[in-house]
Amino acid sequence: MSLAHSLLESRRLQGTGKVLKGHHNTNYVLRVGLLLALLIGAVPYTRFKYRVPLNTIEVVPRIWPCEADVLEVVCRHLREVPRCRAVLGDRSLHRYRRGKVLSDRDFDGVIDDKLMREFAAFFVRAAKVPVEELPPPPEDWPADGDSQAFLHWLIDFTEQRVHQPNRHRFGGLFDAVGIPRGAMATFKENHQGLTSRPFRLLHTDVHRANVLVRRGRISVIDWELAICGDPLHDLATHMVRMGYGKQEQAVMTDLWAQAMTEADYHDLTSGLDKDLETYLAFEYAQSVFPDVMRAALALPGDAEKAHFQAAAERVSRAMGRAREPLMLVEVPDLEQIVEALREWHMTTAPRAAP
Ligand SMILES: Nc1ncnc2c1ncn2[C@@H]1O[C@H](COP(=O)(O)OP(=O)(O)O)[C@@H](O)[C@H]1O
Ligand SMILES: [Mg+2]
Repeated sequence: MSLAHSLLESRRLQGTGKVLKGHHNTNYVLRVGLLLALLIGAVPYTRFKYRVPLNTIEVVPRIWPCEADVLEVVCRHLREVPRCRAVLGDRSLHRYRRGKVLSDRDFDGVIDDKLMREFAAFFVRAAKVPVEELPPPPEDWPADGDSQAFLHWLIDFTEQRVHQPNRHRFGGLFDAVGIPRGAMATFKENHQGLTSRPFRLLHTDVHRANVLVRRGRISVIDWELAICGDPLHDLATHMVRMGYGKQEQAVMTDLWAQAMTEADYHDLTSGLDKDLETYLAFEYAQSVFPDVMRAALALPGDAEKAHFQAAAERVSRAMGRAREPLMLVEVPDLEQIVEALREWHMTTAPRAAP
């Protein structure tokens, strides 16, 4: 372990700074002292975020294992994104940008047009990043512009890397809450013939907890899940994960299309209406797996009625959103979902405790 790494670890273990926990990392906010600043080439006493990965279930694709490689390119073009200053094994040190996280300011409220314009401008900035500067994608990555193959790659990922590998722990629960076993195969069959759009850099996780706001301007953090693909996928994940209502979705779509057109990216908007619906449907469809697993795993060992009720509500919301996309004829009611979660908790949870 390098000296910088040991200094950071001892600072982390002192436990004096702010700790920010996300889905994939625990982040320790700390000011670097003189020695550490010298070692990493930073200004003494500036604030950094020390990022330590959590051991979580894989639920979304991560095609570039090193976020720092992606950030190097991103920060060259999006100056507002905090830089990665050092990579230390599986940990990394990022600049800490002042500002309020949108989820702290506004957990689920309506987003005004001004902020939506900011998001639209962000998507244009991401689209401007030259894709040839990005790290190479995996070997089986769809060819540039093959939007249909891109969507199908995502569907296959959900089936082969999320659904199937988790069946041994969650299969009974997936079945009991009403997810058809062939959900992804059917979805794939029903979503063919997408329009071709050029591939761009996508963040894929632009939600409130990944957005810092300062003086009305935004900075999007957390680039671990960035990929290169069809820009409509980024717009769809953004709209779903922000929790926009129908009206807000329509406004956001118009602003996005307007911003892309003004930037001369007409080809990114072709087939927009039909294909955005498809990506939205996919986002609702795929999220039943992480939503069900996360709800179940969040149950404490000594879970009581209220815990099961809350978990069941979470599952029920996810199933409700996936009803149309997965063409579900019947979704179990809350009571049946509580029962399914109790059964899972009794038979599987103790052995599967994370
Ligand atoms: N520069 C920052 N300023 C304020 N809060 C931050 C900052 N960076 C991260 N956070 C908070 O920490 C959380 C987790 O950070 P993030 O980089 O998104 O990690 P994860 O990969 O675990 O989601 C964020 O959702 C946000 O609430
Ligand atoms: Mg995050």
